[in-house]
Amino acid sequence: MKVLVAGGAGFIGLHFINYTLKNHPADEIVCFDKLTYAADPTAIKALSAAHKIEFVQGDIAEEAQLDRLFARHKFDAVINYAAETHVDRSIKSPAIFVKTNVTGVQALLGMCQKYNVGRFHQISTDEVYGAWAGTKNQKPFAENAALCPTSPYAASKAAADLLALSYYKTYGLGVTVERSANNYGARQHPEKLIPLAISRALCDKSIPLYGTGENRRSWLFVCDHSRATDLILRSGKPGEIYNIAPETEQTNLTVARAILKQLGKRDSLLSFVKDRAAHDVSYRVDTTKIKTELGWHAETDFDTGLQKTIAWYTENRAWLDKITSAAVYKAYFSEQYGGQF
Ligand code: NAD
Ligand code: TYD
Repeated sequence: MKVLVAGGAGFIGLHFINYTLKNHPADEIVCFDKLTYAADPTAIKALSAAHKIEFVQGDIAEEAQLDRLFARHKFDAVINYAAETHVDRSIKSPAIFVKTNVTGVQALLGMCQKYNVGRFHQISTDEVYGAWAGTKNQKPFAENAALCPTSPYAASKAAADLLALSYYKTYGLGVTVERSANNYGARQHPEKLIPLAISRALCDKSIPLYGTGENRRSWLFVCDHSRATDLILRSGKPGEIYNIAPETEQTNLTVARAILKQLGKRDSLLSFVKDRAAHDVSYRVDTTKIKTELGWHAETDFDTGLQKTIAWYTENRAWLDKITSAAVYKAYFSEQYGGQF
């Protein structure tokens, strides 16, 4: 099978490429990625230099670039990880989220239709359902729940889901959509909570927690995610949506404390800061469908996954330091968190 992985130089896409190289060595992989601030150019270029994949730098919102790519390759499947992904950045600069996450997805869908690609798999998020309040009778969101996104990021992802499904209904394109919980693991950009907290704790710097730290997330170990995506790609039904999440959730405070404990650091590094605007309290999704239809469940419990994750960042300080010492990261950090950080 020849697969285009759009956004494959980012955190989750790179894990998926490595998973595929290991488990489906006969597959051909082309990675198409703009290499934004969030990408890992060294890792993707190393895979390309070793002739394991082909790498093409480009923007999914630029149709002419996509057309040249699709004319050169006959893809059996396209998986779209390419996106602007950070909620806080979407609150400050929503336009680029619409351009990449909506216009870009439409451009990719148009190419799949034009070049008769058999499968388009859209990587989406549980954030499209909006906040799960967890009140007495509220069930976790199943795939047919109403979409009620809160942030510009989540709204742009919801729009992309609907566009993708419209290509299935209108043109018969083989679309599948997955909605995953928050991921964590090696090589995640330290703008996201877990690598941010690890990188700050390693340098004895304070960890910013929004509001009271009581908001909750269901943390999915990224390797479990790759296994789920692979199952959906190969055995999922066109036109269907699949939720992907572990069974448990943690408060942000619990996560930050666990990181500090494992690194042998003081709780006094916790710093409660101004809350994020419209901060969703929790996301809970019903994963019955992927479990019963595809036999998937999350194999890595949070304690084990967090240990592995902390070990990776501790052993790869240079990877973290390269990002956090860059002027662009420092500027982002001080604008986001203010001078005291
Ligand atoms: P990331 O921010 O680490 O990487 C995104 C990648 O997309 C980068 O390599 C970037 O260069 C590329 N990209 C951005 N704009 C592009 C464009 N216009 N054209 C081509 N490439 C472009 O993201 P991630 O955490 O790996 O997330 C991947 C996907 O999974 C996203 O679609 C995201 O919405 C979804 N998702 C992420 C999480 C999470 O916790 N990280 C959870 C659920 C869903
Ligand atoms: P994040 O990793 O940004 O993912 P998302 O917003 O997509 O869920 O945030 C995870 C949780 O951590 C979320 O409740 C916001 C919170 N958070 C903080 O408390 N402080 C921070 O500095 C960041 C980045 C996030």
